[in-house]
Amino acid sequence: MRAKIVAGNWKMNTVPSDGVSLVVDILEKLNPTQMGDTRVIIAPPFTHLIDVIDHVWEEGHISVAAQNCHHEDSGAYTGEISAGMIADLNIDAVIIGHSERREYFKESDELLASKVDAAIRHSLMPIFCVGESLEQRQSGNHEKVVTEQLTNGLFHLSPEQMKSVIVAYEPVWAIGTGETATPEQAQEMHAAIRAHLSSKYGDLAEEISILYGGSVKPSNAREIFGKPDVDGGLVGGASLDASDFVSIVHAMQTAKGGLRAV
Ligand code: 13P
Repeated sequence: MRAKIVAGNWKMNTVPSDGVSLVVDILEKLNPTQMGDTRVIIAPPFTHLIDVIDHVWEEGHISVAAQNCHHEDSGAYTGEISAGMIADLNIDAVIIGHSERREYFKESDELLASKVDAAIRHSLMPIFCVGESLEQRQSGNHEKVVTEQLTNGLFHLSPEQMKSVIVAYEPVWAIGTGETATPEQAQEMHAAIRAHLSSKYGDLAEEISILYGGSVKPSNAREIFGKPDVDGGLVGGASLDASDFVSIVHAMQTAKGGLRAV
């Protein structure tokens, strides 16, 4: 059974001292019985990683992710952070291919594929983001866009490497807009993503967690997470409020109460 995951992407928000308070607040509010076997991932900015990992170190179901990494292991890349540097802090995962990086930093599919390789070289789980723009959805190309992003970013991986990947479907039109994909739209795309993964990796596709991202809130999380191919969420704005984030984590368990992840 695939893992249930709720991840919080803090983006470029909070200063390190506030970030520590936020993580302490989240840990206090998480209720192990309501959380069940849902895995929580917190992705703060680079400057917060050392302090945040210190606070979650002993917590079995909580991991920390970085929001980006460079594709090379070291070298003359002023201002960049390598996957090896992140892994050395005992961080578990890294977000790759977020639409904000694709759009504002012009990260291409080819570059993202090499970042996925860098993450895997250093045993970081890539949280690989895909998603279409409003225009692409309105023109009916959304499935094609997303499956191409998957092919170009991930399909060079061996099945063994693919096992460590988490996919996040984040329709660009739903990010930070307050507009959410309907649970049916999310399910339709998640099923298409799984079918596409299965066309290359067969039964392994059933083991890969696919998260939904885009204006997930306490009020809509349960319904979205209740869909069979939605294995969790990648939460932006609401992950900056401890009560909201914890409600979303708890919603995961309510939505999938009967299922156990390994
Ligand atoms: P919002 O939840 O703020 O829409 O952001 C989603 C996102 O981009 C998570 O990576």
